[in-house]
Amino acid sequence: MTSKFGSTLLQYDRVSSTNDLASELAASGADEGTCVLAREQTAGRGRQGRSWSSPAGEGLYLSLILKPEIKVAWSSVITLAGAVAVAETLRFPFGLPTDIKWPNDVLVSGRKLCGILVESAIEGERLDYAVMGIGVNLGQASFPGEIADTATSLLIETGRSIPAEVFIVPLLERLEYWYRTATTNPDRVIVRWEELSSYARGCPVRIESIDGAIEGITDGLAASGALIVEIANGEKREIVSGDVRIRALGAQG
Ligand code: BTN
Repeated sequence: MTSKFGSTLLQYDRVSSTNDLASELAASGADEGTCVLAREQTAGRGRQGRSWSSPAGEGLYLSLILKPEIKVAWSSVITLAGAVAVAETLRFPFGLPTDIKWPNDVLVSGRKLCGILVESAIEGERLDYAVMGIGVNLGQASFPGEIADTATSLLIETGRSIPAEVFIVPLLERLEYWYRTATTNPDRVIVRWEELSSYARGCPVRIESIDGAIEGITDGLAASGALIVEIANGEKREIVSGDVRIRALGAQG
C-alpha cells in the first residue's frame, strides 16, 4: 500500500480551525489523506465545546481527512488509533513515557500533551467522511489560565522542541499504519491502546454524563472501543465516548 497521508499537505499561517478547513475540503471532494496544517489557530476547538490553545508556532495543529468504509458504530476505533499513533511517535523518536486517557488524550507526567478531536459527517449508518484533528503541544514554555496546571509540552518534558513540519513526518507514518489497522483489524488497535494506557484496567474512575455520575474500576475496552467499567454491584457498564467526562480517582489525579 503506497502512503497517502500527507501526500497532499496544505499549510497555512493562520486559520480559525484546521478542522473547519478540512471539513470544507472533505465535503467538496478532497481525497482521503489530505492534511491541513496551520502555524496558528484563532478558534482552535477541543472536545465537549472547549477551546484549544493554539499560539503561533508553538504547537502542531493538524487535521486529516479520512474516508473509511465502515459503519458509524465502528468509528470510535479510528479515534483510538489516532491516540495510539501519537503516543508511539512521542515514545520512540522522542523517548517520552506517554500514557493515554480514554478515549484519546495523550499525557506525559500526568499532564496533557496532545488532544484529538474527530468530527464526522454521517449518512444513515454510513460514515461519509471524518476529520481527525490533532493538537500537540511542542514549544510552549507555559500555559494560560485554567490549563496552566494540567497541560505540558515537548519542550517542558524534554528541554527541546521541534517544528511541527518535522514532527508530522513520523506521526503521519504511524497514523496511516494504525488507521489502516483500524479498518482491517480493529482488535489490534484495541490491544495496543490497552498496552499504552494505565487507565485501561484496574483504574478507579468517576464517569460523569448528562445521565449522572458513576464510579467504578476500568476493565479494558470493548471491541467497539467503549470503555468497560465495573461498578460496585459487579455490573459491567460500557461507556461510549461522547459527552462523558472521565476522572481517575486517587493517586492518578
Ligand atoms: C481535545 O483534547 O479536546 C481535542 C483537541 C483537538 C485540537 C486540535 S488542533 C487541530 C484541530 N483543529 C481544531 O480546532 N482542533 C483540533
